[in-house]
Amino acid sequence: MAGNNSVTAEVTLEKLLKDIESLESIIAGWDEHERITITALKRAIDDLNKEAMARLIRGLKKSPEAMAALKEVIGDEIVYSVLRHHELVKPSLQERIEQALDSVRPMLQGHGGNVELVSVEPPSKATVRLIGACSGCPASELTLSEGVEKAIKEQCPEITEIIKAKGICTTDTPVNFVSPFARGIEKNWIFAANFDELPENELVVREVGGQSVILAKLENNVVCYQNACAHLGMPLDMSELKDGVLTCSYHAFEYLIKSGECLTVPEVQLQTHAVRVIANKVEVSLS
Ligand code: FES
Repeated sequence: MAGNNSVTAEVTLEKLLKDIESLESIIAGWDEHERITITALKRAIDDLNKEAMARLIRGLKKSPEAMAALKEVIGDEIVYSVLRHHELVKPSLQERIEQALDSVRPMLQGHGGNVELVSVEPPSKATVRLIGACSGCPASELTLSEGVEKAIKEQCPEITEIIKAKGICTTDTPVNFVSPFARGIEKNWIFAANFDELPENELVVREVGGQSVILAKLENNVVCYQNACAHLGMPLDMSELKDGVLTCSYHAFEYLIKSGECLTVPEVQLQTHAVRVIANKVEVSLS
């Protein structure tokens, strides 16, 4: 029975790729002439295999049953990898989502964070997770919607639902960053409050840079608006904040506290100021 081991040993993509890598590392030590020769040989064999597979696929496409079988077998990781290597199949949805995430990673990594793809549920759903400093960042909602979601939807328009999995914070410092996708953020930051002193879901009025603003902490997020109603400019200090809706105490104009969008007259909205949180400091950049 011991003689059958080599026959029954499982062939995996990982093992096959490892074999190729170890041979490539040996070839890398050869002199240039030998390397050029072996590279040309590899290319010639690749060309031969690609042409044979392309003809095979063209032949199979003539039969609906054979096409169905082909589509099924493309789900096999070894088959898919070889066909992708020869560019005979388009990138999978997962691959395209990863490419989209790669396009925003440099920006996220520049702020100590990252993003990972948790799962894909074809045809329309993907779950991602912000990690590192991006997790728990007060601006992570903005990071997700402005950066990550936009990149995924641009490259994979069939994805219509993006779910944010609970993040993992890998930084020891309780530093939260303003979203790298927030605009006009690099100047004139003014201290407005200590993050841990802001009550959840309540309005706090502050003088910042000689102007009266309102702050609201919403879970890990902080928003800031000019303390002036978009109706007649009356102060919003006495407004009621309930279920995410701020209601002006004067004539009951309603606003979404998360965005400042007016629900009473959709054409207007509260004047927004950019916010960033560094460690425990909430800073505002007046617009
Ligand atoms: S001033 Fe706010 S509703 Fe009129």
